[in-house]
Order: sequence, then structure tokens, then C-alpha cells
Amino acid sequence: MDKMDVMKYLDSTFSGFKAESVPSSAKFVSGKVRDIFTTEAGLVLSTTDRISAFDRILSTIPFKGEILNRLSLFWFENTGNIIPNHISEKITARTIAVKKCEVLPVEVVVRGYLTGSAWRDYQEGKAVSGIELPSGMKMNQRFDTPLLTPSTKAEQGEHDMPISSAEIVSTGLVEEGLWRKVEKTALELFEFGSDTLASRGLILVDTKYEFGLLGGELVIVDEMHTPDSSRIWYADTYPELFNAGGKQREIDKEYLRQWLIEEKNFMGKGEIPQIPDEVRLEVSNRYIQAFEQITGEEFIPESLSSEDEIKAIIAYLKT
Ligand SMILES: Nc1ncnc2c1ncn2[C@@H]1O[C@H](COP(=O)(O)OP(=O)(O)O)[C@@H](O)[C@H]1O
Ligand SMILES: [Mg+2]
Repeated sequence: MDKMDVMKYLDSTFSGFKAESVPSSAKFVSGKVRDIFTTEAGLVLSTTDRISAFDRILSTIPFKGEILNRLSLFWFENTGNIIPNHISEKITARTIAVKKCEVLPVEVVVRGYLTGSAWRDYQEGKAVSGIELPSGMKMNQRFDTPLLTPSTKAEQGEHDMPISSAEIVSTGLVEEGLWRKVEKTALELFEFGSDTLASRGLILVDTKYEFGLLGGELVIVDEMHTPDSSRIWYADTYPELFNAGGKQREIDKEYLRQWLIEEKNFMGKGEIPQIPDEVRLEVSNRYIQAFEQITGEEFIPESLSSEDEIKAIIAYLKT
């Protein structure tokens, strides 16, 4: 899809359910990105086109929801041998039925490179989620082995806080045996993700997993290795940019975050700036590029109109 084609979709993004279109019998909550219905069988997760940064909902991006959902499905399908996932069935391009799990109260972040908040902590001489790193490391340097840097799952409107594995276990947030299994699984998933992306000329820099329990069994939930939950760089330019001490070329949400900081001096506080269409287009193109580069497939949209999407979900909820 080229830029001109995407332009036609700027006004037909799916921003989610309005309260009046939710059937009165359905239990409904709206996350930053997903609209969630509780059914007898589980949950219906609809990935809208909403985009958030700094934990604020800012705008909608053409095809974002569909791309995130299809990418997660791609990864879940390919990691079933590592861990079972929450998927029950696909309802539409953006909407899936999942098993409702008891989500562990930690976001499991795995980092392959010293960047972002880990780099900021390191520069200030702080340990990164309780891990002391060797001195003399450079910005965006690769770790010899990936690091697990969990954070607590904050309540709505709050920011997540880093927490060490030792604290997770000592405070009883997650039972020790289970936490060891989470760590091992997260590192295995990260290795698989890194290898897969490497074969596509990309670097999985860091990512966030959410795990849950279903009948006592550990399962992976939420989303996986998407541009919303991960930092992804182009591999070909990595060495040169690293040696020059410069920023990396990324294919993730960082573009919008940088635009907000540099053009609008916005870091989450105060009034939400208007996101111009040309920026929304650029962001959409990046999601499309990410889809194509990760899956190796051309992106051919399958999204329904907002009206038909709502109809399809309501029909599903009635079955
Ligand atoms: N299988 C599942 N069972 C229960 N909760 C889930 C499952 N998968 C995802 N979730 C939860 O659904 C929410 C997804 O919506 P999202 O818009 O991403 O929310 P958030 O604003 O918290 O990021 C998250 O809170 C996530 O923990
Ligand atoms: Mg989320």
C-alpha cells in the first residue's frame, strides 16, 4: 500500500465503541488501545486504531489496530511450542476472542540493548531493575545476554514502576517457582523473536510481555512483539550509528514520541497536542512497514468499516 492509498483512510479509523453501541448486557471496559468485552466463554479483545504515548490516548492511526492484532497472531502462532497463549479465535481482522486469565501483576520487560529508560538509569548511576551493569557501557550497546527488567502493572492513569526479580518474589507478588518459569519463558520468547527479526534485517531491542494463569497453567496474554510493545531497529545501520554514538533508525512507536517531544514539547503532561494528518500518515506507514518486514508478507488490509466492525462484534457477543 502506498502513501496515497493510506490517505483515504485517515477519516475512517476505528476509535472504538461508544457507550451507546455497547449492548446493555455486555460487560465492557476500554483500555488505552483495546476495547474489552467479558463474555461467559472469556474475553473479546478489539484492538482499536487508538495510539497512546506517555500513557495518554492521542489520536487514531489508519490500520494500526488490524496490524497490531495480526502481528500478535503471527507471533502467538509461531511460539506455541514455547508457551500456550490466550487466543481462542479470530473474529475480525482486529478483534479476537481470548481466554480470560488471571494476569500476573508485573509487566515482563526483556532488553537486548542498553537504551531508553535503562540507559537513562545507567547514566545516573542507578541499577537497572536491581541489576548492576558493568561500567563503561555506551548508549545502545548490546548486552552479552538479554536482561529481564520487570515493572509493576500500574493502575489506570499511573505509570509503571521498575521492580527487581528479588522484590517480586520477596513481596509475594509472584510465587518463586512461578516467577522462575516466567523468567525462563520470557527469555526464550525474546531469543525466538530476536532470531526471527534478525532474519528479516531487524533488531528486537526490547519488548514487554504479560503473562497470566489459566487453571493454574502459565499462558502468555495481551500482545506480542508488536511495535507498541517493542522497540525495533534496522540492523543494517546499527553498527555505524552505534559507533557514531547516534540515534538508531527505529520502526516502532518512538517516531511519534520524538515528534511530540521535539515539535510540541509534550511528555504526557497538560493538554494533548493536535496530531496533524501528515504525522498520522507517517506513523501509519511505519506500522505497515513493520507488518511487512516482520511477516515478510505484503500488507493487504482486511479491516471492516467502523460500522461493520461494531456489527460483527455485537453479532459475536450474541452467539
Ligand atoms: N487473556 C487475558 N485475560 C485477561 N486480561 C487480559 C488478557 N489479555 C490482555 N488482558 C488485559 O487487557 C488489557 C488490554 O488493553 P490495553 O488497551 O492494551 O490496556 P492498557 O491501557 O492497560 O495497556 C490489558 O490490561 C491486559 O492486561
Ligand atoms: Mg496495553
